[in-house]
Amino acid sequence: MNNSGYFDNQVAARYDESLAEMFATDVVIPTVDFLAALAGKGRALEFGIGTGRIAIPLSQRGVSVHGIDLSEAMVSHLYEKPGSKGIDVTIGDFSTLSVGGSFSIVYLIFNTIMNLTTQEAQVACFHNAAAHLVPGGCFIIEVMLPDLQRLPHGEIIRPFKISDIQLGFDEYNIAEQGLISHHFEMINGRWERQSIPFRYVWPAELDLMAQLAGMRLRERWAGWRREPFTSDSQHLVAVWEIHTEQ
Ligand SMILES: C[S@@+](CC[C@H](N)C(=O)[O-])C[C@H]1O[C@@H](n2cnc3c(N)ncnc32)[C@H](O)[C@@H]1O
Repeated sequence: MNNSGYFDNQVAARYDESLAEMFATDVVIPTVDFLAALAGKGRALEFGIGTGRIAIPLSQRGVSVHGIDLSEAMVSHLYEKPGSKGIDVTIGDFSTLSVGGSFSIVYLIFNTIMNLTTQEAQVACFHNAAAHLVPGGCFIIEVMLPDLQRLPHGEIIRPFKISDIQLGFDEYNIAEQGLISHHFEMINGRWERQSIPFRYVWPAELDLMAQLAGMRLRERWAGWRREPFTSDSQHLVAVWEIHTEQ
């Protein structure tokens, strides 16, 4: 149901370096601005907190952050970093684990909803997010959209990263709404490969999952700077609000 076994010691040790572009200020600051504004004076819960890429700067903004993650290796790297002290993390599956307490935002970013490889688990994740929210609280997801418009009929592979030291290819299984991301990275002069299975998602499907969990769409954007969401958008940032009568 989940594929967090892919975030083992070796992956965790190289996570920040391999994804350096995701740690760049022009990525992190708009994300933190967006989340901090929605959190207000309330608490934030990150599903799949990882090494704290966003949780640490969000906490440094004065937002109280709690995280859930299955990977002890990822979380141990979070706690090695300055600014991590005030962050609580519970090890477990964010589609089912309750950490108690109420949060003004629950957020699940950087495609991590797709790590749940069944629709059932993704629906459970929405229910779990809703169960942690205060009335009027918000669940936020950032996820890529499947590149199907650019996939010629009959083809199944789309490149997503090409550099001298990193290559990435998504392999689509359209019938199953699945994709396997193949990552190749040059490490100490050798190509290392990691292939991770995902279940891709559609905006309307996520809205329905939210509805099943008692939430409704509040905002939908193509990025953290509230870029308009259009037919050409390749990313989704969506915010669902819990019904206040719940
Ligand atoms: C792509 S990383 C994102 C980490 C962080 N949110 C970020 O933006 O850098 C995905 C993280 O989610 C965790 N994860 C994946 N599936 C999970 C699950 N079902 N329950 C808890 N954690 C999960 C992984 O262990 C990993 O740390």
